[in-house]
Amino acid sequence: MSLDTVSYKIPVARSAADLRAAVAEWRKEGLSVALVPTMGALHDGHVSLVDLARKKTDRVVVSIFVNPTQFAPNEDFSAYPRTEATDAARLEGKADLIFAPDAADMYPEGFSTTVSLTGVTEPLEGTFRPTHFAGVATVVAKLILRALPDIAIFGEKDWQQLMVIRRMVTDLDIPVEILGGPIMREADGLAMSSRNVYLTPDERKAAGQLNVILRETADAVTKGAPISEATAEGGKRILALGFSKLDYLEIRDASSLAPFPDDRPTGDARILVAAKIGKTRLIDNMPV
Ligand code: PAF
Repeated sequence: MSLDTVSYKIPVARSAADLRAAVAEWRKEGLSVALVPTMGALHDGHVSLVDLARKKTDRVVVSIFVNPTQFAPNEDFSAYPRTEATDAARLEGKADLIFAPDAADMYPEGFSTTVSLTGVTEPLEGTFRPTHFAGVATVVAKLILRALPDIAIFGEKDWQQLMVIRRMVTDLDIPVEILGGPIMREADGLAMSSRNVYLTPDERKAAGQLNVILRETADAVTKGAPISEATAEGGKRILALGFSKLDYLEIRDASSLAPFPDDRPTGDARILVAAKIGKTRLIDNMPV
């Protein structure tokens, strides 16, 4: 095993072999293991997932890998913030190991496999980012199969991603428990995201209203408004805030993400939004 124990106070595994060797040592001692997959640029939302992992298991691995295959060519892969040293400092005393492979380790020459799901990947994000979830499912399958954790934890902010990953591990019989961690919000309710750093002060102010409109739209439906009317009204309000493009504002079945046929929720429902302000695309969601 050749963990990097020099760069930071927390050890780093950079290859599958080193990750597996570290986990195998813990297994010999009978310890349980959690994996928190991230793309780095860690904020309090990520840290809350690590804290949740700590409560559930004896050892916590945080992976940091900006996965190229989940970005479309027009998206922000090269601009995505890469802050490994700061991330490592944030994880001190919280995680036991960072797994930070490079792209050549994750996708070596000749790599030819894609994990692709139908159904839950198709609406919402799937309409606007048609290649995104195949990239996510493939990398998450690899990360889980490399670490073989007891549990893997994902933020509820990417609600559709969480549903996709649950579906994938069920369909492929991957023996891991998938947990969702609640969305962490700024004081004005803006969902924490690594992309919030792109917002100008004016955009940041407007972005803080997105969650208010989500809550009020959801409440209108709870009080009896038809979904289509409430979301149309909510969409107008989002654009009036200065958002340049509303990709979607929808109320869907919380697990399957299918629409409700009678324009009213008949089971667990979730309101989900994606909208662009300036150069930044924000997503958010909450229960109805
Ligand atoms: O949510 C993310 O940060 C990423 O999509 C994930 C799950 C780490 C896969 O690259």
